[in-house]
Amino acid sequence: MSCGGNSSDHSTAAAVRTSDGKLQPDGMAVFRQRCVTCHGADGTLGLNGAKDLTQSALTLEERVNIITNGKKLMTPFGTVLTPEEIQAVAEYTLTLKK
Ligand code: HEC
Repeated sequence: MSCGGNSSDHSTAAAVRTSDGKLQPDGMAVFRQRCVTCHGADGTLGLNGAKDLTQSALTLEERVNIITNGKKLMTPFGTVLTPEEIQAVAEYTLTLKK
């Protein structure tokens, strides 16, 4: 037996435990780590032509898609983040909406 190395756990972002005890990525931590450079902590920075996330009307699926594949100057995160992290950070961007 090896000492429990989990190969899918290649991410550096923090994780949070849900009420049913499952470990899930912390969307806010991922956002702070990867997205604030262009979008800002509250989503309004707009650097490099980034959209104001407080005004975005996109659905969760559309966000997941853009985050995974990128758009214009936005980097694709499909190779950087796990699908769970992308889902978590997409859900977090929905909370920025005003
Ligand atoms: C290098 C700068 C950059 C980084 C880093 C970045 N974005 Fe973006 N983002 C952009 C740009 C530019 C656009 C606008 C693309 C366009 O013209 O439609 C955008 C658009 C978006 C949109 C679509 C908004 C809309 O209404 O069209 C979402 C959602 C989004 N980004 C989320 C994220 C998340 C989540 C992260 C971190 C995982 C992230 N972005 C990191 C530059 C960036």
